[in-house]
Amino acid sequence: MTMIEGFRIRNYKALRDITLGRLWNENSTEKLTPLTVVIGKNGTGKSTLFDAFGFLLDCLKFGVEAACEEKGRGGFERIMSKGVQNPIMFEVCYQEENNVRPITYEVSFALDKHNRPYVRSERLRQRRKGQDANERPFSFLILENGRGVVWKGEYEGIQESSDQLVLAEIDRLMSEESGKSETVELDDYRKLGIATLGALKQHPRISAFRQFIEGWYLSYFTPDAARNLPLAGPQKHLSVHGDNIGNVVQFMEREYPEQFAKILDDIAGKIPGINKISSERMPDGRLLLKFNDKGFEDAFSAQQMSDGTLKVFAYLLLLSDPNPHPFLCIEEPENGLYHKLMEVLMQQFRAHATDGKGKSQIFITTHQPYLVDALEPDEVWILEKGSEGFSKIRRASDDPLVQSLVNEGLPLGSLWYSDYLEEV
Ligand SMILES: Nc1ncnc2c1ncn2[C@@H]1O[C@H](COP(=O)(O)OP(=O)(O)OP(=O)(O)O)[C@@H](O)[C@H]1O
Ligand SMILES: [Mg+2]
Repeated sequence: MTMIEGFRIRNYKALRDITLGRLWNENSTEKLTPLTVVIGKNGTGKSTLFDAFGFLLDCLKFGVEAACEEKGRGGFERIMSKGVQNPIMFEVCYQEENNVRPITYEVSFALDKHNRPYVRSERLRQRRKGQDANERPFSFLILENGRGVVWKGEYEGIQESSDQLVLAEIDRLMSEESGKSETVELDDYRKLGIATLGALKQHPRISAFRQFIEGWYLSYFTPDAARNLPLAGPQKHLSVHGDNIGNVVQFMEREYPEQFAKILDDIAGKIPGINKISSERMPDGRLLLKFNDKGFEDAFSAQQMSDGTLKVFAYLLLLSDPNPHPFLCIEEPENGLYHKLMEVLMQQFRAHATDGKGKSQIFITTHQPYLVDALEPDEVWILEKGSEGFSKIRRASDDPLVQSLVNEGLPLGSLWYSDYLEEV
């Protein structure tokens, strides 16, 4: 399974500098687990963290200027950390499924002289086979202000002696073009270089990384979106709002009847009354999602179903996607769910987020101690507001007391409830 081993975010709203998991230059830190859950009081930065992933994905899809306006972000000045003039920076260290050496992507965004946001720099690096984890990796993409150098294939790159590459060095690198590298000049420096270069066959590592990010699923599910009546036509993947849930049902009924029957069983066992879910094409070509209740002869439509039922159904469908997203991000999945139902959902998340082929890494934020009970300390991260108003983050397993109480059999959620996870 393709996994994010670690990431760092700097100067993005309340996240002035936070790191989760292992980066290329921090080998002693533990990697992220397949299931990662972030907890924290109100206003500590959980939604911001979720949105930071969304921002990166939007930058790839639409370019940075449009990404700053998406999802009500309100422009670059609003998403920069208050009082900080430095660029917004992201670092993502990830490992492909077939277990090659991890790749690190670094990107930074700033305002240009017209006060418009642009991609200030991008870099990709990877160690070579046999290289020691303490040695510096080789960069195979270096871009500054839309100009730079890319190294072709799976192996080439340059090993710099320090992190700070000055612009003059970019010019030197660009003049040293060889058979292994080529110069790059983007015609629009508001777009990511990996978006363009990742479309080219001669850059397999960049395409793989681009595809990885494009495969991220950030859930913006709303029950009302799931209640709309889309045009009929089977669709493989659930949309981020869940408004094509009927189309996915149509697809599953046709392509994976057994798997679909199992999902229904799971749901029927937990939500009283539901014993069949199906789709029906209406005369005007739109699709009706029908829920049969044992007690009633006629089926209910999705429009009549409860919010919680639709939500659990949508998440279970998402988890049974035959081509699962490598990375799923869900904010407060517990909202609106009866605790037993949350337990079912959590078991499914747990089963799905394992280090196996065709599985997903799952990232969740929550306020629900009950949900945390099922977790190990290295899966739980605690966000807090630091003295300067910016977020700080800790891993529950870094606290020896918490670790030993869990070892003694106390569930993590109840420790949280009893304030053991708070900073002393
Ligand atoms: N540009 C910015 N610079 C610094 N801090 C900011 C910036 N924009 C927003 N904030 C702060 O970020 C904090 C985190 O908000 P966020 O919505 O991520 O919290 P949350 O953990 O999701 O809270 P809740 O549990 O209530 O949903 C808020 O306290 C807000 O004041
Ligand atoms: Mg929030």
